[in-house]
Amino acid sequence: MMKPRHFLTLNDCSVDELHYLFKRAAWIKARLKRGEPCHTLSDKTLAMIFEKSSTRTRVSFEVGMLQLGGNVLMLSAGDTQIARGEPVKDTSRVISSMADIVMIRTYAQAMVEEFAGYSRVPVINGLTDEYHPCQVLADVFTYQEHRGPITGKAVAWIGDTNNMLYSWINASAMLNFKMHVSTPPGYAIDDSRLTDAEHAHLETFADPLDAARGASLITTDVWASMGMEAENEKRMRDFKGWHVDGEVMSLGAPDAVFMHCLPAHRGEEVSADVIDGPQSLVWVEAENRMHAQKALLEFLLLGQLKTD
Ligand code: CP
Ligand code: NVA
Repeated sequence: MMKPRHFLTLNDCSVDELHYLFKRAAWIKARLKRGEPCHTLSDKTLAMIFEKSSTRTRVSFEVGMLQLGGNVLMLSAGDTQIARGEPVKDTSRVISSMADIVMIRTYAQAMVEEFAGYSRVPVINGLTDEYHPCQVLADVFTYQEHRGPITGKAVAWIGDTNNMLYSWINASAMLNFKMHVSTPPGYAIDDSRLTDAEHAHLETFADPLDAARGASLITTDVWASMGMEAENEKRMRDFKGWHVDGEVMSLGAPDAVFMHCLPAHRGEEVSADVIDGPQSLVWVEAENRMHAQKALLEFLLLGQLKTD
């Protein structure tokens, strides 16, 4: 049996494959907007396993898979034997003997890696504590859709050192853009998780305003990610000042855009005037999850398709 392709981090694709996915996503989106059906995955079933909450990931994968002519199975981990301790490897063998592709949202990256190790079919990381590759795939696609190639640009990240940031760092080395990162004291990037190439694309700043200076894309995320609820109060204190407001945006490039994976907390990591303002791409960014992931689902199941 051929080993299936997985998408557990962005690095599971080559740079050429990422460019293919962006191109294919644009093609899929344009076709959908023209009202032309595209049933490349008819008779295929996507199983989705959620151990954490979701709005965008669930809706984008489910509607996207249905639009491609496929079927979807939604599994809340709490309703399955996973919650009662069935080993991941056993669950993986069983689900992958019936479904054609699996998407998992969970806590530890090690869980999706173990699942993929025993799976007969492709496995997609729909967010772990460590990475959120589907979101950054859609984010880069969105930036490029509005502003052209991201290569050579600077992306400012202001806030927590979380799953989104590490996926952005992966993307920076692959697509050759700079990451300007400002995180509060005590929330430094874990250097041991970065490759030399990633280090070479990273610049850290004590002051969030310095991180924003000249950036073409300014982005942030919640101060406390899912699973960090116990630290909420402490984080509300520690992250004061690490937010994106009008002053931060004014320091970016003249055509800078604001992005946020959502859900957002207005008045915490982002001000209402920025997220709801003219530089914000957050709604199209959310919609583009679906177009980008449709390209990804097709790619993992069928390889590269002709995009005319
Ligand atoms: N951005 C994102 O992944 O959103 P959900 O948590 O709603 O899926
Ligand atoms: N960093 C956030 C992203 C949510 C989509 C979290 O993990 O909760």
